[in-house]
Amino acid sequence: MTEPQDDEGAMDGLTVTSCRRCPKLVDSRSRIVNGDGPTDADVLFVGEGPGATEDAEGRPFVGRSGSVLEDTLLEVGLEREQVRITNCIRCRPPENRDPRTAELANCRGYLETEIDRLDPAIIVTLGKVPSEHLLERSVSVTAETGSVEDVRIAGRSHPLLICLHPAATLYDRSQREPFRKTLATAADLAGVDGGGAGQSRLDGF
Ligand code: URA
Repeated sequence: MTEPQDDEGAMDGLTVTSCRRCPKLVDSRSRIVNGDGPTDADVLFVGEGPGATEDAEGRPFVGRSGSVLEDTLLEVGLEREQVRITNCIRCRPPENRDPRTAELANCRGYLETEIDRLDPAIIVTLGKVPSEHLLERSVSVTAETGSVEDVRIAGRSHPLLICLHPAATLYDRSQREPFRKTLATAADLAGVDGGGAGQSRLDGF
């Protein structure tokens, strides 16, 4: 893995402190939206990229999708403050369009560094973009939500759980239960619950 520190971008710990690699995103963003949550979290959620609310507030998943995520986490015994949440790209695209391949590639080193330094018990990809980006294959999220496979980042293997994007439950109520079940799987696999401590069932992975 290349340490993402050059004239075009710099990191401090898990935080990107400056980056000008994607000129269109530099123009459309108000700020860089970094990952949020404990730097030793057992569960790392990876979304697509910041939307308008995230860009305004500087935190991932603070809009409607974030409310769905937080509410469903509570249903499975987890609080937002216990997990880490990040995105494939850290700058809001114009008109909330999908991230371009080059933008995903430009931001990938930051995501890999965040995963490597956090070393979570489980990575949970929220939706198609992060699932395909990290697994490097096409993914049918509706069919594959809840399935776990290993992904290699910086020479180490990490278990990854494919999950629906929380927004999918807003468009289609039938997705609520599979979404909740997948979050329950994440909590179970990481061995975390509302009470905090718990032996990770993925220790030694
Ligand atoms: N959707 C995402 O994928 N990421 C966010 O931060 C917010 C909404």
